[in-house]
Amino acid sequence: MCGIVGYAGARPALSIVLDGLRRLEYRGYDSAGVAIVGAGAGSGSLLICKRAGKLANLEKALAEESAGEDSPLAGIDSGTTGIGHTRWATHGAPTDRNAHPHPSRHGDLAVIHNGIIENFARLRAELEADSVEFRSDTDTECAAHLLERELAGVRAEIAARGGDGLDAEVRAEALAEAMRRVCRRLEGAFTLLAVDAATPDVVVGARRNSPLVVGRGQGENFLASDVAAFVEHTRDAIELGQDQVVLITPERIEITDFDGKPAAGKDFHVDWDAKAAEKGGYDWFMLKEIQEQPQAVAETLLGRLTESGEIMLDEVRLTDQDLRAADKIFIVACGTAYHAGLVAKYAIEHWTRIPCEVELASEFRYRDPVLDRSTLVVVISQSGETMDTLMALRHAKEQKARVLAICNTNGSTIPRESDAVLYTHGGPEIAVASTKAFLTQLVACYLIGLHLAQVRGVKFADEVAAVVAQLQEMPAKLRTLLDRMEPVRELARELKSVPTVLFIGRHVGYPVALEGALKLKELAYIHAEGFASGELKHGPIAVIDRGTPVVCIVPSPAGRGLLHDKMISNIQEVRARGARTIVIAEEGDEAVLPYADHVIFVPPTPTLLAPLVTTVPLQVLAAEIASARGHDVDQPRNLAKSVTVE
Ligand code: F6R
Repeated sequence: MCGIVGYAGARPALSIVLDGLRRLEYRGYDSAGVAIVGAGAGSGSLLICKRAGKLANLEKALAEESAGEDSPLAGIDSGTTGIGHTRWATHGAPTDRNAHPHPSRHGDLAVIHNGIIENFARLRAELEADSVEFRSDTDTECAAHLLERELAGVRAEIAARGGDGLDAEVRAEALAEAMRRVCRRLEGAFTLLAVDAATPDVVVGARRNSPLVVGRGQGENFLASDVAAFVEHTRDAIELGQDQVVLITPERIEITDFDGKPAAGKDFHVDWDAKAAEKGGYDWFMLKEIQEQPQAVAETLLGRLTESGEIMLDEVRLTDQDLRAADKIFIVACGTAYHAGLVAKYAIEHWTRIPCEVELASEFRYRDPVLDRSTLVVVISQSGETMDTLMALRHAKEQKARVLAICNTNGSTIPRESDAVLYTHGGPEIAVASTKAFLTQLVACYLIGLHLAQVRGVKFADEVAAVVAQLQEMPAKLRTLLDRMEPVRELARELKSVPTVLFIGRHVGYPVALEGALKLKELAYIHAEGFASGELKHGPIAVIDRGTPVVCIVPSPAGRGLLHDKMISNIQEVRARGARTIVIAEEGDEAVLPYADHVIFVPPTPTLLAPLVTTVPLQVLAAEIASARGHDVDQPRNLAKSVTVE
């Protein structure tokens, strides 16, 4: 969703802000803009440029409008304070005029925003009654006009007290106070950043229900919706709390709550560098991230087993007694993370014998789930900012349930508000479609299942260690598998024009089928559906026609022979109706050969862990079909990486 960058320092802000926006492009956006506080001849003015479409459009406009001394944006590249925004449209179409930053009525202030201001209609009516003319259809513009009005009020109060309205610190504090007053009037979710032409060297930010992190540099400071925006300049970051306002200058970072009481953020160090967020020779981030999966799985497993054989989480604000008392588990997540939860249910129930339900976060709180202090809610989120999941988490906490988060993003809201956290150490995931995050979420779910089983005394340390050892074999298996993906790429080229693809599986193969279908839909824009194979005969089999590709995820014949045989029967059923079968099976499983038009073998893996390998060919298939169809693999249409609206 919207990407936000702010800079106050000594270097030209424009290039730093544009680089930051480029690093946030992966979040998905439809317009972009910057506001730079003018320097030199341009001081005392705010230079704003914004365009619909990709950053390239903005850069072209900047080049055209800043060339020559009389051009409207002359000097924009020398200002040292600025903000920038990539917008994912909510209120108003993705046009130039709706792009951020939004200037205030007199143009001295500019505001960028992520989130939704829910009471904007009321605020807009109030401002229009005060003769403010709106120049966009956005909710954000209200914040710009309100800020101007509040700032005038604060300055008048300072003057009335005889304060020095020209003093730089007084002016900076006035801007922060005006921001606090605005925030107290806003309802909904927002990250706001503002710059003021009359307060150079200062960027003010605020957050409620939407991410904002501070980057602490040497003689320069940063604000951003995501550390990726500034990680090439500093890896020292501060996570802001809920309802906080922050003021940065090149030398200072000051945080308060919305009432002006000094507050502290939480310092953290970003444990990856800018290189991790670059393509590294791949055409698409997604292809790189698929290849990074062995490493990501290995990192997520690293150091999880103590010498005494216990599983270690990252942050635990829950006692073992709390975990022992859990009599029901809900796993709550969205999209791919939800699919990880569906896999986890099989493992957690099998290992712990605690009933476990998996819920879409967007549905959870609206159906009034039965929760109490002995319910454990596991929320899964790569970004840690998904609004549906955050709201489900808050609902669970209101009902006194204990919440354990699985998250990939240090400093994000979901882990901060949870009682315990297990971080997936997958590194930054830039492509919108989740790949390595999914595999590392699976690993995290397995670890949590084992931890619960151990704490509750249903698994001994040596049994836990045996499963951890199987998990530790996965990076090598994944490497082998990834080296054998050429036939999948070939198949993708053959399938690039099919109108529909079905995916079927049983047991943990069922969520893998759902995930395979989701990947194909979102990347290739091809109709795709995943089914539990046993359900086919209850309706969906009617859609199978001559040549319909059906991807069949076959469980290992070892250990669960019945499950395997049933799946073979299901493949025969679809084949008998003309389907073209693409079978994902374990190496050596010759029983599938008579029924497979294409077979993709994966390394032998215990049934519950099999999704770690069976998902990979489906990721490659989707990415390659999308690429063969000429789509943007990293930023599929209509999608955003971090979904911060409900
Ligand atoms: C699909 C995908 C999405 C996310 C979902 C949840 O490839 O990436 O379905 O899984 O939006 O996002 P997080 O995990 O950030 O909460």
